Amino acid sequence: MTSSNQRSLIEIESNFGPDNYKPLPVVLSKGEGVWVWDVDNKKYLDMMSAYSAVSHGHSHPELLKVLHEQSARLALTSRAFYTDTLGPYLETITSVSNFDMALPMNSGAEAVETAIKASRRWAYRSKKIEPNKAEIIVADGNFHGRTTTIISFSSDANSKDDFGPHTPGFISVEFGSSKAIEEAMTENTAAVLVEPIQGEGGIIIPPDNWLAEIRDICTKHGVLMILDEVQSGLGRTGKMFAFEHANIQPDGLILGKALGGGFMPVSCFLSSKEVMQWLNPGSHGSTFGGNPLAAAIGKRSIELLEEENLIENSRVLGEFFKNALGDINSNVIKEVRGKGLWIGVVIDPNFISGKELSKLLLKEGILCKETHETVIRFAPPLIINKEEIEWALEIIKTTILKVESESRS
Ligand SMILES: Cc1ncc(COP(=O)(O)O)c(C=O)c1O
Repeated sequence: MTSSNQRSLIEIESNFGPDNYKPLPVVLSKGEGVWVWDVDNKKYLDMMSAYSAVSHGHSHPELLKVLHEQSARLALTSRAFYTDTLGPYLETITSVSNFDMALPMNSGAEAVETAIKASRRWAYRSKKIEPNKAEIIVADGNFHGRTTTIISFSSDANSKDDFGPHTPGFISVEFGSSKAIEEAMTENTAAVLVEPIQGEGGIIIPPDNWLAEIRDICTKHGVLMILDEVQSGLGRTGKMFAFEHANIQPDGLILGKALGGGFMPVSCFLSSKEVMQWLNPGSHGSTFGGNPLAAAIGKRSIELLEEENLIENSRVLGEFFKNALGDINSNVIKEVRGKGLWIGVVIDPNFISGKELSKLLLKEGILCKETHETVIRFAPPLIINKEEIEWALEIIKTTILKVESESRS
């Protein structure tokens, strides 16, 4: 039962903000590590991690220190001036990802927009595509953000209906099919832009060789291969970047979410000098992108992933968690899939909806949320330990078995 204290806060939020989210009925007020507390001091294990943005856990002490020190020293300058934080941050992020350059932005969607603009400039100026003819191939079921251009190539009606006119220049093909990508290539193709694993789409994992095949096709046709790793990147799948599972290097990479260390929006687009050379003064930018605070947090967030072994933890505990979820013997579960600490449990809606199951787990002290109605996503902070996962597993198992037995009676 949501307390009256929480109900009144929920009411205020609903009265003064539109219904563009439908949150679970809990009002959070504190977080530490993998745990969060509601306003009545009830404790929950965060298996949602702000859609994978809180990989370092809530209020990571090292990042909190950086936040305090950097904000006390210098937080915001705009890019009208150089700062002593941006260069070192860009050097760190390009060196871990093996790219020449990074262009800093704030939200994931802004970094996707940056990738689209950079690809188009490159296509017109390096590849010499006719003006305004550039095409970008994307995948059905994609999620790349919420701007007007990005929703133009979404397959989800509610994301795009009555937000038109939509931006042209995108061709959407079947996710996981390299044949479909090859067939969609024309002399006007500038880039292929895909997620290595579709997160919001329901943790959909493509065939093993898909990324390597896209790499070959893009190289053959002189087209940029751009990966959106806003959600899959920075250790979430058990490698620093999901493209490492395929042993390839894309031509462009989009990062966000965990780059902000669970504190603030930090994103970027990474690519080669060949692509970035066309982004001259005035062509692109952001007042807040690359600000000293974001740069300091971004740099330390990346370093901590390796220093604290979070990527390996994601790989090892992700495998353990996925297998244990798969071992739950219940008809409620149709499939368990995922990579690293990024797991989707597909629920049979004849027993319970994803939303109702999330509510039952909330009552038991686990925060998670459904995606696409029937998939429950488990994506805890990468700092989680085995005991915490075992604690959650026990609750998940008991809850699911109870749902099944009650549906029989
Ligand atoms: C793959 C991917 N790209 C882009 C975005 C958009 O990021 P933001 O919400 O920070 O704009 C998301 C958000 O979920 C995402 O999962």
